Amino acid sequence: MEKEKFTLGLELPTDPRWVNIAQKNIKDILVDHAYCEQKAASACISLIINFPEMDEMVKVMTPVVAEEWSHFERVLEQLEKRGYKLGSPRKDEYVSQLMKLEIKGGSRKFQLMEKLLINALIEARSCERFKQLHLYIQDDELKKFYYELMVSEASHYKNFLQLAESYQPKEEVRKRWGELLSAEAEIMKNLEVREDRLH
Ligand SMILES: [Fe+2]
Ligand SMILES: [Fe+2]
Repeated sequence: MEKEKFTLGLELPTDPRWVNIAQKNIKDILVDHAYCEQKAASACISLIINFPEMDEMVKVMTPVVAEEWSHFERVLEQLEKRGYKLGSPRKDEYVSQLMKLEIKGGSRKFQLMEKLLINALIEARSCERFKQLHLYIQDDELKKFYYELMVSEASHYKNFLQLAESYQPKEEVRKRWGELLSAEAEIMKNLEVREDRLH
């Protein structure tokens, strides 16, 4: 229970070297973070566009789009305040590797479950990273900012998992979630620790 509360099930905690180097490179972290929020909003919109018949999902995801978009707006404000520009997006190695875990085909509900669970992984890891930033970053304003985002992403994580369970049998979702958590830990373990990426 404790484990779930603090790590949201993630099997591999963030390498402590990451926070150390990330906080010395806040410009790149903020830029990468802005794009993560943009992608989060866009991922929710895609679900709504591609699965319009899934009423409950559409209902739950619609306000999440607005929240992710407001996160994007808030990261832009933090960039502007510091005189930094958004610039161009960078390759997101973490998310592109996660996407490869998705099993294609099967019923519409199965396809939706796969997408919901992969989104839940991204939320869980982002939440874990925001917690690290909140705990260790020196800048007081960002410390508070990352705390608020940590709380918000934790609730999105719950939304995705609960939705997956409302479309597929609970045991199947739990089993697949366990497989995905292990695969995510493996990806994380082999990913280069970078000072300019949120993941
Ligand atoms: Fe967000
Ligand atoms: Fe989120």
